[in-house]
Amino acid sequence: MANPSLLILAGDGIGPEVMAEVKKIIGWFGTRRGVTFDVSEDLVGGCAYDAHGTPLTDATMAKAQEVDAVLLGAVGGPKYDSLDFSVKPERGLLRLRKEMDLYANLRPAQCFDALADFSSLKKDVVAGLDIMIVRELTSGVYFGEPRGIFTEGNERVGINTQRYTESEIARVSRSAFELARKRNNKVCSMEKANVMESGVLWRQVVQEVHDREYPDVELSHMYADAGAMQLTRWPKQFDVIVTDNLFGDLLSDLAAMLTGSLGMLPSASLGAPMANGRPKALYEPVHGSAPDIAGQGKANPIACILSFAMALRYSFDMGEDATRVEKAVEKVLADGLRTADLMGPEGGSPVSTSAMGDAIIAALDASL
Ligand code: NAD
Ligand code: IPM
Ligand code: MN
Repeated sequence: MANPSLLILAGDGIGPEVMAEVKKIIGWFGTRRGVTFDVSEDLVGGCAYDAHGTPLTDATMAKAQEVDAVLLGAVGGPKYDSLDFSVKPERGLLRLRKEMDLYANLRPAQCFDALADFSSLKKDVVAGLDIMIVRELTSGVYFGEPRGIFTEGNERVGINTQRYTESEIARVSRSAFELARKRNNKVCSMEKANVMESGVLWRQVVQEVHDREYPDVELSHMYADAGAMQLTRWPKQFDVIVTDNLFGDLLSDLAAMLTGSLGMLPSASLGAPMANGRPKALYEPVHGSAPDIAGQGKANPIACILSFAMALRYSFDMGEDATRVEKAVEKVLADGLRTADLMGPEGGSPVSTSAMGDAIIAALDASL
């Protein structure tokens, strides 16, 4: 059987720094577990713009469609802020999501015991937290038409359109219900049905899919603003949260801080099954290119490493090895290793990005 194939798009800023640690782990699987991945690498984001004048070439897009999974670091940075919207680094990522039709973005927020003290919330609010945000990723206000900046009378007007079809809502809600069945069997759907028609439809369709196909799953609905409040008040009331593209973006950054740092949160973006039965998939940390710390060896590589663990679980049927990587992360945190983002205001001695990666490799060795 052919080796599993991976396309690495490390991107900009801290993207290549955190991805270097994932590459060590991919190498570890080759030498220590006899699992060799066919790895190719390419450009996305600002670095692709610098090389080719576009944040994603057609050739890279075609490669992404062919591989078993894409691993992405991060894109963007101040250098590209004034670029035309059509060639901004972020457009490269949005094109990948849209053309691969990666409609279900899984963003798990788990609080490791060793970090429960570090959250900005009280320890008992976050200790043992394990929630899964399912963010719709290919539609909504990110992609709706009309959009643009127009002139109306003597002033400019900026327009974006929130648009959801019934089938787009139904398919992402199925992803959420399926996940809930393997977890604690609860889904909370979040929208703004009190002010947006797309929210009214969202609520109706999620309820219909539930009643028809998943009556065994406990379903509740919440307005997204109240959801944000509840996520900080008592996040452990949630199991799976399903929400749209924009609310999911906001709520997942919020959920990241429940776990201690944005540098901890991984994600999987999944589409429909390919011919081999596995979903089209892209894995990436939730965080961005962190221009404020790029190039300093300070970035926390754990979000990117846990994203690779999600690839093992969702693309390669290697659930036990995914758990092995997660346990290795848990072990180094329990041993007290911290990158700078996991230091409190009183400071301490943070380890570098590569020292964190090396410690995780050592914990993986110890797991054999
Ligand atoms: P960001 O996530 O890059 O950074 C926010 C804050 O979190 C910064 O203080 C940063 O230092 C810190 N941080 C983030 N990841 C970290 C890590 N792994 N370790 C330690 N600290 C970390 O968000 P931003 O500053 O709003 O955006 C910067 C750029 O990244 C923008 O161009 C934005 O569009 C882009 N972005 C890209 C992605 C992506 O590629 N998926 C996601 C979010 C933002
Ligand atoms: C994310 C990011 C992206 C988004 C940007 C970089 C396009 O914030 O993945 O959370 O808004 O979806
Ligand atoms: Mn975001």
